[in-house]
Amino acid sequence: YLTGGGELNTVLGTSIIKGLVGAGRMEEATRFLEEMKAMRVPPNDRTLKTLLRGCLRWGRGGEAESIYEEMRAQGMQDQVSDALMIRIRCQDGRLEEALSQLRGLTGPAPLSRLAVGHMLLMEGRDGEALEQAARAMEEIGGAGAAAVDEISKLKIKTDAEFIQRIVEERKQGRRDEQSLRPSMQDLFLSSSSNVDKGNLKTGLSKLLRAVGPDKPLHVELCAGSGEWVLDRAGVEDANWVAVEYRYDRAHEILTRRSLLGLNNLVVLNLDAALVCSDLLRPASVRSMFLRFPEPMGAGSVFFSPSFLRAVHKNLEPNGTFNIVTDDSDLRDSYLKVVKSCPQLFKARSTARREGAKKGEGAVSYFDQLWRSRGFQERYFIELGKVPRNV
Ligand SMILES: C[S@@+](CC[C@H](N)C(=O)[O-])C[C@H]1O[C@@H](n2cnc3c(N)ncnc32)[C@H](O)[C@@H]1O
Repeated sequence: YLTGGGELNTVLGTSIIKGLVGAGRMEEATRFLEEMKAMRVPPNDRTLKTLLRGCLRWGRGGEAESIYEEMRAQGMQDQVSDALMIRIRCQDGRLEEALSQLRGLTGPAPLSRLAVGHMLLMEGRDGEALEQAARAMEEIGGAGAAAVDEISKLKIKTDAEFIQRIVEERKQGRRDEQSLRPSMQDLFLSSSSNVDKGNLKTGLSKLLRAVGPDKPLHVELCAGSGEWVLDRAGVEDANWVAVEYRYDRAHEILTRRSLLGLNNLVVLNLDAALVCSDLLRPASVRSMFLRFPEPMGAGSVFFSPSFLRAVHKNLEPNGTFNIVTDDSDLRDSYLKVVKSCPQLFKARSTARREGAKKGEGAVSYFDQLWRSRGFQERYFIELGKVPRNV
C-alpha cells in the first residue's frame, strides 16, 4: 500500500501497529514505530498505549519502560498508561515501584490493583492485598461501573475472590505462606527469555523431572489464565502442563500456582503448536485438552493434519485428546480435519447444554463468561488415539 503511493498518517500507523501487536509481532511493531517517525508521521498517545498493551501481553517490560519514558517526556502519560505500567511492573516483580505508582493514581484502576494484590500476597502482605481486592470491587460497583466491560468485570470479580480465598485459607492455617515461594523460574519456560528449541526441550524435561517423574502427564493447550488446569492439578494426583502463549496470562497461571502451593503444574509460555511438534516426548502424555479455543484466532489456524500427527505422537497408546467448544462451526471444521486423518484418531462428538462436565467441578473464566452470556450449548469432542500398527 505504502510503496504504491498510499499515504501514511498517525491513525493508519496506529492501526497497523495494533494489528502487529495483536498477532504477537512485537519486533515488527516497534520497527514500524521507528519507520513512522522516520517518515515524519508522529505517534500519538494511542499509538504508544497500543505498544504498551503489547508489552504487557507479550512480556516486554524493558521496552515498556522506554515507551513510558517517551510518553512522559512528551506529556502523553495519563491514567491509562500508568495503569498499564503498574501491571507491567508487577509482571516484572517490581512491586514497590508498582505500589508507589498505584498510590499516585487518581482514577479507578481495578486490574492494576489486583495485579498488585497478587504480588502482595506473594510477599505475605495479606492485609494490603485484601484492601486492594476490596477497592477493585468497589471501583467496578460504583459510578465508574458502566465504563468497565463485561469481560473485565468478570475477571476482576474472579481475581478479587481468589485473593480473598487465599487470605481466608491462610488464616485457617490451610496454607503455609513459606510454601508459596518456589522459584518462579523453576516452573516457567517462556519464549520471551529462551527461544532456542533445543534449550526449550531440555528445559521442559528438567521441569517435568522436578515435578515427579512417575505420574501420568496431562497437558492443557491454550490455557488462558488457567482456572481449569489449576483446579484439576489441585485435585488429581498427576502432573500437569499448561501452555499459553500470552505472557500476561501465563504469568497469572504461574502466580496462582505458587499461591496455591501446587507443585505438580508446569507453565509453558509458548506456542501450543511448537510445544506439540517439538517439545513433548513421544508417547509421554496421557491426555491433552483444548478448551474454548478462539474461533477466529490461532485455535483454528493450528488445528491441521500435521498438528494432529504431533499430538498423536505425544500421546500414550490409549491417550485421548479432549476438546470443548461452544462454536459449532469450529467443531465442524475440527471434525473435518480429524476425519481426514482416520489413521490417527477415532472421534466421538457429543453436545451438552451444561457448561462443565458433570462432576468435573472446574469451570474456567471463559466458560463462565460464555455461560453468563447465555451460550449454553457445548460441543465435546473426544479423540482416541489409534495405535500405529492398526
Ligand atoms: C478463549 S481463551 C480460552 C482459555 C481457557 N482454555 C478457558 O477456557 O478459559 C483461548 C486462549 O488460547 C490462547 N492461545 C491462542 N492461540 C494459542 C497458541 N497458538 N498457543 C498457545 N496459546 C494460544 C489465547 O491467548 C487465549 O488465552
